[in-house]
Amino acid sequence: MSQPASPAKPIILTGDRPTGPLHLGHFVGSLRNRVSYQDDYQQFIMLADSQALTDNMDDTNKVHRNVVEVALDYMACGIDPAKSTILIQSQIPELAELTFYYLNMVTVARLERNPTVKQEIVLRGFERDIPAGFLTYPASQAADISAFKATIVPVGEDQIPMIEQTNEIVRKFNRLANKEILVECKAVVPEVGRLPGIDGKAKMSKSLGNVINLGASADEIKAAVKMVYTDPLHLKVSDPGHLEGNVAFIYLDAFDTDKASLQEMKDHYVRGGLGDSVVKKRLEAVLQDMLAPIRARREELAKDKGYIMQVLKEGTLRAREVAARTTDEVKAALGLTYF
Ligand code: TRP
Repeated sequence: MSQPASPAKPIILTGDRPTGPLHLGHFVGSLRNRVSYQDDYQQFIMLADSQALTDNMDDTNKVHRNVVEVALDYMACGIDPAKSTILIQSQIPELAELTFYYLNMVTVARLERNPTVKQEIVLRGFERDIPAGFLTYPASQAADISAFKATIVPVGEDQIPMIEQTNEIVRKFNRLANKEILVECKAVVPEVGRLPGIDGKAKMSKSLGNVINLGASADEIKAAVKMVYTDPLHLKVSDPGHLEGNVAFIYLDAFDTDKASLQEMKDHYVRGGLGDSVVKKRLEAVLQDMLAPIRARREELAKDKGYIMQVLKEGTLRAREVAARTTDEVKAALGLTYF
């Protein structure tokens, strides 16, 4: 079947569980890409508060509070509500409705085999006491993605199994409906891999306490840089230093735009004769310069909560219209229209 040429931009869906303010790891892994997607794609950014509840039922307040915090982070980093649609998952009941139907198109065994779910169950220490909503969140994520007919889903490596399972559901549904109603999507994993924590652990993560938040104060940045893991073998200034696993240099690689002089510094460090304090001074300057305008915008935006809520409300309403159209199509295909 030939498709008419369409001027419509490809649809991107991204999302975060709002359980804490965003940090440099989010910035490198997703936020700065989202800012660059805004012009060429139709972008939906989901505050996945319902999904966050799947393992935070004991602290619903935290999730509620962080919806606004994360929205502030988005906008402080340059997400423009005139270009991107920011939406709150729980305010779109059609997403829950779709999830309910999709649950009949996955088996418990398949959910239990999902590598991300498996890993997270271990991480959270659920053992056999897994909330059913947690086990089945891949179906809810399939609803999020398919409701908007997103074709591109930028995610971290750990979320790839979610996209695979989404596409399985999409294919199964279309076969059942005998019609291409839902659309398959592609996971896009950022080239720059994940940022290590300041302590040298592989991942920057709030639960590991090794983060630098996007809204960090100048003093917090200074203190964090002091703790940044470098080279444990580099004891004296004259010792040759190592770059592998050296978080100070990994961060400089990620954020320092003066690549030529950074290379000189690396060469000097490896030769020996360059102290960590000099490297950290440069790192602190780079981070202070980068985060100061983000912090300033964040503080400015935070003064007008009404405006933020208006942005979230408008984005959610716009998104709901799209999700409702897809849900109507899905229900029609399932014989669930009567009047
Ligand atoms: N599971 C994602 C996370 O843990 C959040 C999320 C919810 C999401 N729905 C989504 C991501 C849809 C991409 C697409 O951060």
